[in-house]
Amino acid sequence: MGEIDHIGIVVKSIEDALKLYTGLLGVEPSGEETVEARGIKVCFLKLGGTKIELLQPIREDSEISGYLAKKGEGMHHIAYKVDSAEDSIAKAKELGIKPLSDVPKPGAHNTTVAFLHPKTVNGVLTELVEH
Ligand code: CO
Repeated sequence: MGEIDHIGIVVKSIEDALKLYTGLLGVEPSGEETVEARGIKVCFLKLGGTKIELLQPIREDSEISGYLAKKGEGMHHIAYKVDSAEDSIAKAKELGIKPLSDVPKPGAHNTTVAFLHPKTVNGVLTELVEH
């Protein structure tokens, strides 16, 4: 555990972003999925032992719309593998690290995820992924 699961990049259009990954680097998407509860469409690309996750909003109140409006496209988060997202939230709180939510959320591909507030983890939005 503690391995990097993926790096999340916010994009306006997954289709346009694939020009780099598929067109230039020759990487085929390993799964595109809409996560309705979070208002996003995601596309994973396997690169060696880790993945790039492209995130595109599908509605104006999605969880990444604010980020896209304020900062534009770019690096959004780093995700680490954990045994249990719920236990990790509890442990984070003990350590003074602030989770964005007290309960884990559904992630793509049947995962359960938790996010940690960037201000409490060196300025990087951090996702914990339970497979
Ligand atoms: Co992610």
